[in-house]
Amino acid sequence: MIRRKFGWTDVKVPIVGQGTWLIEDGSSGHLRDNNNNNQLPINTLRIGLELGMTHIDTAEMYGNGRAEQLVGEAIAAGKREDVFLASKVLPSNASYERTIRSCRQSLKRLKTEYLDLYLLHWPSSSYPISETMKAMEKLVSEGMVRYIGVSNFGVEELKEAEKALHNERIACNQVLHHLGYRGMEKSILPYCAKQEIAVVGYSPFGHNGSLFSSSLQSNNKRRLLEGIAIRHGKTPRQVALNFLTSRHPNIFTIPKTSNPNHVRENSESVGWSLAEDEVASINKAFPLPVHDGPLEMI
Ligand SMILES: NC(=O)c1ccc[n+]([C@@H]2O[C@H](COP(=O)([O-])OP(=O)(O)OC[C@H]3O[C@@H](n4cnc5c(N)ncnc54)[C@H](OP(=O)(O)O)[C@@H]3O)[C@@H](O)[C@H]2O)c1
Repeated sequence: MIRRKFGWTDVKVPIVGQGTWLIEDGSSGHLRDNNNNNQLPINTLRIGLELGMTHIDTAEMYGNGRAEQLVGEAIAAGKREDVFLASKVLPSNASYERTIRSCRQSLKRLKTEYLDLYLLHWPSSSYPISETMKAMEKLVSEGMVRYIGVSNFGVEELKEAEKALHNERIACNQVLHHLGYRGMEKSILPYCAKQEIAVVGYSPFGHNGSLFSSSLQSNNKRRLLEGIAIRHGKTPRQVALNFLTSRHPNIFTIPKTSNPNHVRENSESVGWSLAEDEVASINKAFPLPVHDGPLEMI
């Protein structure tokens, strides 16, 4: 798995990581193990780690903490320092005291002493960003967090967050990014590149995979991706992940899967190149939106 420098940090992070929203719900259906104890997502995360997909993205919100527990079990088998572990605090918990408390609780569920990256899940309407960032700096100074990030932030919100920090810098903005929604490429990506803020694109297959399960199936867009995939001996999803991450050195992606075959497939989506005319035809079929558009939040 190819790694890239993560924004201004010295850390090299795999271009393709692993998301964990809904890993606890057995949505891989028939693949759920008989004892219903979520061994399958744990094993899948471990396979992903072995394949170099060491960036794991989770959140206190996912399964009300259950996703973090499963991640904790998955990473317990290996060396903690081999994992780039990210979690998120809910905006409703983003006061100074509660941000620190949320982080401690995440660490407990994840069975680790530190997070590599701690994100504010989306801008809070309850607490000023200065209060949350103060707590984030405290967490860094106490060794519980290595890098501070945000998620679903537009450029103006990012500027506010940057201004609110005194000793640290924003390392990451995690935003929606899939073929059907490339809005962040318009102004968020250029701003983040200028500020050396890593951009992690979430829901690369559409929300919970919806882009591939429905709208693409019956149209030219699907045929286009299939044609390109066949030429490279790849799958349409691999083409999508390659396209999303290959045109800019500052983008990462975090597909979620609880299926061992799917995680293998996702791991082979980078390390090869689309031809210029293929990039052009994907650009034409999946154009940038006119406006930046709203950022979705989950
Ligand atoms: N910051 C935010 O506000 C925010 C919002 C949404 C998501 N996220 C993060 O981003 C991650 C990814 O987003 P997402 O979970 O919404 O959607 P996604 O990764 O785009 O799609 C996940 C869906 O695609 C399926 N899938 C994955 N790989 C596949 C493959 N190779 N072949 C066939 N199906 C495949 C999965 O099913 P199987 O499990 O059966 O493979 C699942 O149904 C989340 O898990 C979360 O960590 C962050």
